[in-house]
Amino acid sequence: MKIINILGSPRKKGTSTRIAKSFTDAAEGFGAEIDNFYLNGMDYSGCQACEQCHSKLDHCVLQDDLTAVLNGMRTAEVAVFSSPVYMGDVSGQFKQLLDRTWSHVSVDHENDGAFTSRITKGKTAIFILCQVDVEKRHADIVERYTEFFESFGYDLKVIRATGLKSGAPDGDVSTAQKKAIELAHELFRNN
Ligand SMILES: Cc1cc2nc3c(=O)[nH]c(=O)nc-3n(C[C@H](O)[C@H](O)[C@H](O)COP(=O)(O)O)c2cc1C
Repeated sequence: MKIINILGSPRKKGTSTRIAKSFTDAAEGFGAEIDNFYLNGMDYSGCQACEQCHSKLDHCVLQDDLTAVLNGMRTAEVAVFSSPVYMGDVSGQFKQLLDRTWSHVSVDHENDGAFTSRITKGKTAIFILCQVDVEKRHADIVERYTEFFESFGYDLKVIRATGLKSGAPDGDVSTAQKKAIELAHELFRNN
C-alpha cells in the first residue's frame, strides 16, 4: 500500500510532523511505502483560477513541485495531511495545496455545480492539526475542510493536538502519536 505524507509545517521536527511520522513509521512496519512531501521546501504556485482543469484537462495545468503531490493523491491508498494552525486556519503552505486540489473534482454546471471526484473512492485521508489553543477553539477548521476531503471521496480520520506550548516544536504530542499508531494498526494490520 502507498501512503502520501504531506507535511504543511515549516518545522521539520515540529508537532504535526512528529505525529505524521508516528503514523508512517507504524505503517512502514506493515510494509506500506511512504512518499514524503515537505511543502515548505518545495517550489509551487497557488491556483491561478484558469479553470483549465474544468474545461480541457482532468488535472492541474501548472507543472511545478505540487504536480507530484497532486498525482500522488490520485494513486496512494492513504493520504496524510498535516498542518499547524496559523491565525485560525491551516498554514499558508498547506492552503495553497488545497486550492490546487480544485483540479481533483469535475464540476457539473448543469446540476448546481455538483462536484464529482477524480480521485478513486475508498481511499483514507488523515488530517492532523496542531495548535496552542484549547480544543474547542479552531474546531471549525476541521468542519470546513471535512466537506472538501469528503467531496474527494476520502474516508476522513482527524487527529488534533491542542493546548500545546507556544514556540515548542518538541512539545508533548504523545497522546496524538498514540492515536496515529493505533490508526496505522487499524488500517494496515490486515494488509
Ligand atoms: C504564524 C503563527 C500563527 C499561529 N496561530 C495560531 C492560532 O491561531 N491558534 C493557535 O492555537 N495556535 C497558533 N499558532 C501556534 C501553532 O499552531 C503551534 O505552535 C503548533 O504546535 C505548530 O505546529 P508545528 O509544530 O507542527 O509547526 C501559531 C503559530 C504561528 C507561528
